[in-house]
Parts: sequence; C-alpha cells; structure tokens
Amino acid sequence: MADKQFWVELPDGSRTPHEVPSDMGLSLMEALKALDYPIEATCGGMALCATCRIEWQDGNLSEPSDAELDMLDTLPDVRSTSRLSCQIRLTDISDGSTFRVHALEWNQGNAPTGQQA
Ligand code: FES
Repeated sequence: MADKQFWVELPDGSRTPHEVPSDMGLSLMEALKALDYPIEATCGGMALCATCRIEWQDGNLSEPSDAELDMLDTLPDVRSTSRLSCQIRLTDISDGSTFRVHALEWNQGNAPTGQQA
C-alpha cells in the first residue's frame, strides 16, 4: 500500500505529521475529514463552497483547475497560497508537504480529537 506523508499546521503554528494511504483515490479534503480536522466541505467536493480551503505552505502539488481558481477568486481574503483541498488528490502532492487548516474553520470550535487550537 502506498502511503503519503504530510504535515498539517494549525492556526497556532503547531504542526502534526500524518501518513495516509494514497492508493484509494482520496482527495486531500477527504483525508483531512477522516483525520477529524474541521473541514466542512458543504458542497461535497464540487469546488462550489470553499469551506475546504487550506493554505499551502511547502511541497509540490498539481496546478489548480479553472473551476478551483474561479471559486478562489470569489473569496475576499484569497492568498497566493490558498487552495481547495477537495480539488487536490493525495497522489498529486509530494511527500512531506505542509499546509495550514484555514483559521475561519478552526474558529468554529471544532478542534480534532487530542489537539488544541
Ligand atoms: S468541498 Fe466545497 S469547495 Fe471543496
């Protein structure tokens, strides 16, 4: 089984390493939800809600699609690092990639089990 290793950074700057199977066709959003991160993903991965937004910090990943760019352009505080985790396949990121869970989602009080925001 192929595993993908990545780091998730919380708004307080703390980082947690994860290793998840990458041969199941999962998106990064699906992996984050499975790891109990507070990713709403209200549109179910259709690039229509931006509630799965993350801030990419380090590592290689695929270029955003036009649909992803169109959704990101609607956000008032979009950054050059902003990505929609539902549009990123685990197979498309490099091992050791690091990204931050978006602060707005975190502020809703949904810290994952065993971690503090
Ligand atoms: S889940 Fe809605 S844009 Fe990613």
